[in-house]
Amino acid sequence: MSAQRQEVVRRLSAPDIAARKGREPIVCLTAYTAPQAEILDPHCDLLLVGDSVGMVVHGLPNTVGVTLEMMILHGQAVMRGSRQAMVVVDLPFGSYEGSAVQAYDNAARVMKATGAQAVKVESGPTVPDTIAYLVQRGIPVLGHVGLRPQAVLVDGGFRAKGRTEAERARVLDEARATEAAGAFAVVVEGVAEALAQEITAELDVPTIGIGASAACDGQILVTDDMLGLFDWTPRFVRRYADLRARIGEAVQAYAADVRARRFPAEAETYRLKAAGA
Ligand code: KIV
Repeated sequence: MSAQRQEVVRRLSAPDIAARKGREPIVCLTAYTAPQAEILDPHCDLLLVGDSVGMVVHGLPNTVGVTLEMMILHGQAVMRGSRQAMVVVDLPFGSYEGSAVQAYDNAARVMKATGAQAVKVESGPTVPDTIAYLVQRGIPVLGHVGLRPQAVLVDGGFRAKGRTEAERARVLDEARATEAAGAFAVVVEGVAEALAQEITAELDVPTIGIGASAACDGQILVTDDMLGLFDWTPRFVRRYADLRARIGEAVQAYAADVRARRFPAEAETYRLKAAGA
């Protein structure tokens, strides 16, 4: 065994996150690559390898085209880049809705290939049974209710949920069923504050909000949105940086230097070694 053994850091687990209900807010962000995970890890409790990777990294119009193979590759990268945050990998559209057995086979594949601590699934009428099936077989599950990006083709767009009485009741029922099935926490996306408050008050497991007000037990954002890497961001996103503009300026300066032969300069150039050196 190597004399320089790496310091062992215990990662946060599903029970650690569940125990944060009503306590210190849970800090979560999405992560897709190893260097990004390395930067986020010291500041976050949970890193989600979201299927938003399809839109953010691969330029897809929505998350429907994301594959299990993509989630595994990005999950492996995020696990390599992080040390202490819990890592959760999204099960993509078409990988878990067919049956509980299909969900188990694919979730187990993700867990083995990536070493992540849990998977996330979006809610739907049959999903609580699937969550129970996974949890009973040793796979921690993060639920996801409210706006469901994987249902974009049925819903006809990304719209906030639970603003009518019928929808409010449906989202609340889904949240209750997700908890009853054994999810260790539930992402609540795109709902009015009153509904987020109601869900958070009812559930014994933490709620993690995105566009769901400060009422939730934790918050998550798509990292590239909060860093300002896109021209447009939804109303619920706070931009903590303006990296798109900063990167544009840096690349413009590089292009000008190359065109003017100012780059590379002497300090950036290798020379032959002097004889005998
Ligand atoms: O895929 C994703 O990034 C998500 C978050 C928006 C919660 O599911």
